[in-house]
Amino acid sequence: MAKLWKGRFKAATHPVMEKINQSLPFDRELVEEDIRGSMAHAGMLAHVGLLARKDGREIAKGLKSILADVRAGKVPFRPDDEDVHMAVEAELTRRIGEPAKKLHTARSRNDQVATDLRLWTRAAQDRISGRLRGVMRALVQVAKRERGLVIPGFTHLQRAQPVLLAHHLLAYVEMFSRDRDRLRDCRARTNRLPLGSGALAGTTLPIDREYVRRELGFDGLCDNSMDAVSDRDFVVETLSCLALAAVHVSRLAEDVILWTSSEWGLAKLDDAWSTGSSIMPQKRNPDLLELARGKSARVIGSLATLLVLLKGLPMAYNKDLQEDKEPLFDAVRTIDIVLESLALFIPTLRFDRSAAAGMLKDGFLDATVLAEYLVERGLPFRSAHEASGKLVRVAEDGGRRLSDLTLDEMLAASSLFREDVFHRLDPARTPGSYVSAGGSGARDVDRAVARWEKRLSK
Ligand code: ARG
Repeated sequence: MAKLWKGRFKAATHPVMEKINQSLPFDRELVEEDIRGSMAHAGMLAHVGLLARKDGREIAKGLKSILADVRAGKVPFRPDDEDVHMAVEAELTRRIGEPAKKLHTARSRNDQVATDLRLWTRAAQDRISGRLRGVMRALVQVAKRERGLVIPGFTHLQRAQPVLLAHHLLAYVEMFSRDRDRLRDCRARTNRLPLGSGALAGTTLPIDREYVRRELGFDGLCDNSMDAVSDRDFVVETLSCLALAAVHVSRLAEDVILWTSSEWGLAKLDDAWSTGSSIMPQKRNPDLLELARGKSARVIGSLATLLVLLKGLPMAYNKDLQEDKEPLFDAVRTIDIVLESLALFIPTLRFDRSAAAGMLKDGFLDATVLAEYLVERGLPFRSAHEASGKLVRVAEDGGRRLSDLTLDEMLAASSLFREDVFHRLDPARTPGSYVSAGGSGARDVDRAVARWEKRLSK
């Protein structure tokens, strides 16, 4: 089929040029959006009288039949079509003939592709937001199920203070909730209509952009035609949200990898979500988590690609922009399956309560509580810190725990100690005495679980 832009050319395109120029193999992802956009555009052209009613009906019928075939998997495109926009138009011409030639009135592929991509991105934002919600629900479910389970909390990957597992899990719920907020926020800026901007300057034809906006469910129009066809900041913002979500996922994955390692033994991987080794029969590998952690690199890479892609572009449209699609599609596909897997996997994690109890015994997790005990009894915190530190040294030198020390040994560090100090020294019970808002106190955490459960049930 002859090129749709062939008019001013004498000679044929070099076959290698055709190859590098072609985007159909990846931008066919936009086919539904492209057809919907064309339907709205044709409807508008008929509405304002730029298209005869009869032609408008023919075009609508033709586009509908293409859409049906695409959905049925009967993709009618020819491999030599340059991009999805040309492919749809060429197919429409094959189906309805002459009227198809009027579809591109008052439109350029530049505002067309920007419109398709915004439609696609908007749907992707909603899909990923739903996936994030799924992961949040799974985390809250486990937080509730494992209510009361105390584990060591870490800083610098060194045992620090006891925390509730639920508190640890809800930390990720908070992160994913902000990821959803950010997606919602950039959705509002994504959801504006570029179509009607033409190639870059608008058109002399009396189009009705509001009509198209309503048809396609955009909240507003892009107000500057040059901006509309040339920027892809909505893609950057989306990728930025996804990259950050992927970083959060990666951190969670790393935690689960540690928990399920044989060194920690805090949790066990379900058979359905782990893999074995082809040589070491005893292995149970956390491949899903490693993939989740590893795939975050691709999502972050996509963000970097888009930023670099846009950086040096002069106004307005440049073909560089054709390179915006694969990173976006890949990032969305990647985070989509990662989040889908995690939502299913998380509830299958089994925690080992006795392993958790064992981990609490060593590492002086009660040293901070010991210092705070002295503060309650009137000692300045710095002195309390020092007294507690001395006792840690005494215990450590003797291969003992703080609770193994005698009251006399304690009194040697500070005269403020009383017998009741020993009630404080069980790390398993410490979360019962955290009282600050947002901390790992048992009552607060229970309340947070209930709050999230309610929020996520809506
Ligand atoms: N395939 C192109 C893209 O993805 C469509 C727009 C092409 N416009 C043009 N004037 N060559 O960006």
